[in-house]
Amino acid sequence: MIRVRGLKKHLAGKWVLNGLDIDIMDREIFTLLGGSGEGKSVFLKNLTGLMKPDGGTINIDGTEITELSAKKLHKIQTQIGMMFQGGALFDSMTVGDNVAFGMRRLTDYSREKISRMVKKYLEMVGLDGTEDKLPESLSIGMRRRVALARAIATRPRYILYDEPTTGLDPITTDVVCDLFLELQKELDVTSVIVTHDLKTAYKVSSRIGLLYEGKIVAAYDTESFRKSDNPYVKQFIRGNRNGPMKAKNGQESVL
Ligand SMILES: Nc1ncnc2c1ncn2[C@@H]1O[C@H](COP(=O)(O)OP(=O)(O)OP(=O)(O)O)[C@@H](O)[C@H]1O
Ligand SMILES: [Mg+2]
Repeated sequence: MIRVRGLKKHLAGKWVLNGLDIDIMDREIFTLLGGSGEGKSVFLKNLTGLMKPDGGTINIDGTEITELSAKKLHKIQTQIGMMFQGGALFDSMTVGDNVAFGMRRLTDYSREKISRMVKKYLEMVGLDGTEDKLPESLSIGMRRRVALARAIATRPRYILYDEPTTGLDPITTDVVCDLFLELQKELDVTSVIVTHDLKTAYKVSSRIGLLYEGKIVAAYDTESFRKSDNPYVKQFIRGNRNGPMKAKNGQESVL
């Protein structure tokens, strides 16, 4: 499991994460909702060790990762698959090389094994035979599925998804959601999804949390979240501008 306590991150002159506590249990699909600019991507980057926190602890399967040497962190990172926001792929690499990337970097699999695995994972996401294509020749929905295949290819215990369905049409969103549920069953993993899409959250999550001002202000199982009287949750679900939460534009640091 992942246990996060008092997590803090200071960026662009403010505390983006400000004492965040959450436990992510084995085999659950935990979805973190939150407005734009609230720090959802920053949270995921801290979990993977891509960003170092300025306070607090992150314990993954009994190992405190915030103090680890690069080498030991690398070992933990083999347990974590990440699908980045926008499903970013390497545009100059073929689909096959994109999916193989993590396996080449993090495992000692032979060339033959890697190419077998690439084929298998592309099949799992419904993209068999696309190994030699370049990402630019695929639709956004297909690219998102390649990113998914890349995230699962190293057989991680944890998969972190940053906005996996944002920008997809409702039908493709549904296809990607079904894929999550299938992968969850087949791969026996723990997933953390970050999104502001309620529909995706309701369809796939076992538990939903809400991030506001650097803290988790609510975390309930999906049914309880939907029915919650928590004023933050009610405001987020209804998309009401009046309530305890104020909108951030997420761009303050750039402007
Ligand atoms: N590398 C960075 N350097 C400086 N500031 C950053 C950096 N990354 C994020 N921030 C700032 O931290 C805040 C939270 O950003 P983050 O990307 O985590 O938001 P988010 O919740 O993922 O938003 P969105 O829903 O738009 O993706 C923003 O104000 C952003 O400008
Ligand atoms: Mg983000």
